Amino acid sequence: MKKRISVLGCTGSIGRQSLDVIASHPEEMALFGIAANTGVDSLIRLANEYRPRVVACETEFDASLLPAGTEALLGPGSTERLAALTDADVVVNGISGFAALAPLVASLRAGKRVALANKESVVCGKSLLDGVVLAYGGEIIPVDSEQSAIFQCLQNGKKEEVDKLILTASGGPFWREKREALTHITLEQALAHPTWNMGRKITIDSATLFNKGLEVIEAAYLFDVPAEQIDVVIHPQSIVHSMVAYRDGTCMANMSRPDMRLPIQYAITYPERMPSSCTPLKLFTEQPLTFHEPDLNRFLSLRLAYDALRAGMSCPLAYNGANEAAVEAFCSGRIGFLDIERVVDYTLNQHIPRALSSLGEIMEADRQARDIARRAIEALQQERR
Ligand SMILES: NC(=O)c1ccc[n+]([C@@H]2O[C@H](COP(=O)([O-])OP(=O)(O)OC[C@H]3O[C@@H](n4cnc5c(N)ncnc54)[C@H](OP(=O)(O)O)[C@@H]3O)[C@@H](O)[C@H]2O)c1
Repeated sequence: MKKRISVLGCTGSIGRQSLDVIASHPEEMALFGIAANTGVDSLIRLANEYRPRVVACETEFDASLLPAGTEALLGPGSTERLAALTDADVVVNGISGFAALAPLVASLRAGKRVALANKESVVCGKSLLDGVVLAYGGEIIPVDSEQSAIFQCLQNGKKEEVDKLILTASGGPFWREKREALTHITLEQALAHPTWNMGRKITIDSATLFNKGLEVIEAAYLFDVPAEQIDVVIHPQSIVHSMVAYRDGTCMANMSRPDMRLPIQYAITYPERMPSSCTPLKLFTEQPLTFHEPDLNRFLSLRLAYDALRAGMSCPLAYNGANEAAVEAFCSGRIGFLDIERVVDYTLNQHIPRALSSLGEIMEADRQARDIARRAIEALQQERR
């Protein structure tokens, strides 16, 4: 039986690579649905190239531009509607940011396997997601390369045998720079990632190391491990995707050439493995693999992530919401590179932690965190004038 797959965020970096994985396994996989937000032209092109049964778009457009026979779900909430359609076996969630949460919940409520690339939804929705998985029987298989690596390494031992989860970080383009040199980083410099070709938001997050901060929280939530058992190591070559150290001294590492199609495919086919078109790893021809300790004084982003994780309740959500607002402000030239962490630090200081259980409460808490962040952004803009 072919697996029928929907791809949310199909116009993005993860989305397009997911379509590539599905197209390269025509015997085993079939595309069921695709969804996008504002990229109407790209969406129509993809619909004509890949011929899914259903196309969803948050933005209305003329559905006669789609191939004949395609079902169109158009307008706000259409991604969520596709995410919940029972005809798909697997939903790849490659939406960027907090917006991925509602479709994730919809897929899990429909009892689906979600191949989840998005990390913000786990960071913000943990308190809700566990209950939904338990009640409706869906499952999350991580796609994020670090979480996929840990997921795979954890299959070699029992939870109580784990000593540490060790997340690798490429470090982005600036990890060697002195803190003073980070003040004048431009958008163009921040978007030049040395090893991965990704969407804009995650590329900025990689440069600030907020991406790693979000992953620390994501790993704690996905694998039910406390902050003390999660380490971060800078590994600029992005060959070791992450590791699990067991208490007997064994350390399991997951390695491959950096190619997101591999964890996407594994999340779809798990527990099976299938041939892929990814270039095999040839260790003799790789540059030397190096590992470095991150400097938490240089990158406040990581320290704040550990603080938010330890504080618990709605603090990780506030960390994420403030970062999303600050990245937007940096991308539109309103604040500087180092201001991103200032905005998050301010928001966490002002945020009043509380327990969250429903999607409505999570949405409201996210809105409030962004309001605080917006005030900090305005103050920083005033300062720059
Ligand atoms: N790229 C990677 O290599 C990579 C690796 C690990 C994890 N991730 C994670 O995967 C997620 C996606 O990353 P990406 O790099 O693929 O991002 P991206 O290239 O920016 O793509 C984002 C996708 O999400 C859609 N989208 C944005 N807002 C939406 C909304 N409100 N409702 C519905 N769809 C929406 C966009 O649609 P439009 O284009 O139509 O606006 C686009 O298709 C992120 O959480 C990221 O952290 C990415």
